[in-house]
Amino acid sequence: MVKIFLNGCCGRMGKAIAALCYNNPDYKIVAGGDIIENNTYDFPVYTSLNECTEEFDVIIDFSNAKAVPTILEFALNRKKPFICCTTALSDETVASILKASETIPVFKSANMSLGINMMVELCKQATRILYPEFDIEIVEAHHNRKLDAPSGTAIMIANGIKEEIDENVEYVYDRHSVNKARSKNEIGISSIRGGNIVGEHSAMFISDEEIVTISHSAQTRDVFAKGALTAAKFMAGKDKGYYTMSDVIAQYIGE
Ligand SMILES: NC(=O)c1ccc[n+]([C@@H]2O[C@H](COP(=O)([O-])OP(=O)(O)OC[C@H]3O[C@@H](n4cnc5c(N)ncnc54)[C@H](O)[C@@H]3O)[C@@H](O)[C@H]2O)c1
Repeated sequence: MVKIFLNGCCGRMGKAIAALCYNNPDYKIVAGGDIIENNTYDFPVYTSLNECTEEFDVIIDFSNAKAVPTILEFALNRKKPFICCTTALSDETVASILKASETIPVFKSANMSLGINMMVELCKQATRILYPEFDIEIVEAHHNRKLDAPSGTAIMIANGIKEEIDENVEYVYDRHSVNKARSKNEIGISSIRGGNIVGEHSAMFISDEEIVTISHSAQTRDVFAKGALTAAKFMAGKDKGYYTMSDVIAQYIGE
């Protein structure tokens, strides 16, 4: 059984993970952290991390970009694996997470779904075959409460594609402000916000004659929650280092 400290436990993702762990013999949430006080869970919720005395195997964080430096410090103090699922992190926070991986195991993915991580691999393969003949555009859609745009996942897909291109690649987020014809070495990234969309991502490879679209549609938040729990099992007892979903997928394909 993997014992979990769940940061951001009162949010949408926190609740999805708590529901999946309830009465689940493989996982136990022993404590949580949030800025909201909560006594409806069967585990204590701390608004101040220093008060937590419970022992746990891993920390899962689905909170807020501003909260990440504090929970990272908590992971370093407790010398426990840190699974960072929160998005829209500053460059400074990303650098401190990387630095922390020299001391503790850290896992970071802007999207915890296995499907999206497979999609990134497929997009990399498509880029190797289709670029530069095909223009590449990414379109993402999310619910109307999402704070960041474009989504961390859209950037993750773009970064995967960029790795396969030798020349300099520019991301263009807002064609209105650019107001010029598309250049070859750019990846357009467009965002749609509305209703309760859990997460839609499409990468379009567009030539003069044909369009190849690789897309992923998240049907429920449980897909991210399940991915985070898979990561928790993967990270429990790991040595210091930096891990991503690619390491988890490698296990499935036996690399
Ligand atoms: N990696 C992924 O697969 C994935 C999937 C979904 C969401 N996310 C990201 O996870 C984060 C949370 O998403 P959500 O939809 O649950 O958001 P949410 O707003 O519903 O929940 C966030 C929770 O964090 C709490 N919080 C805020 N500041 C905090 C602090 N300083 N310390 C502790 N808790 C704090 C809030 O009170 C809230 O309960 C976002 O950054 C989102 O983009 C990532």
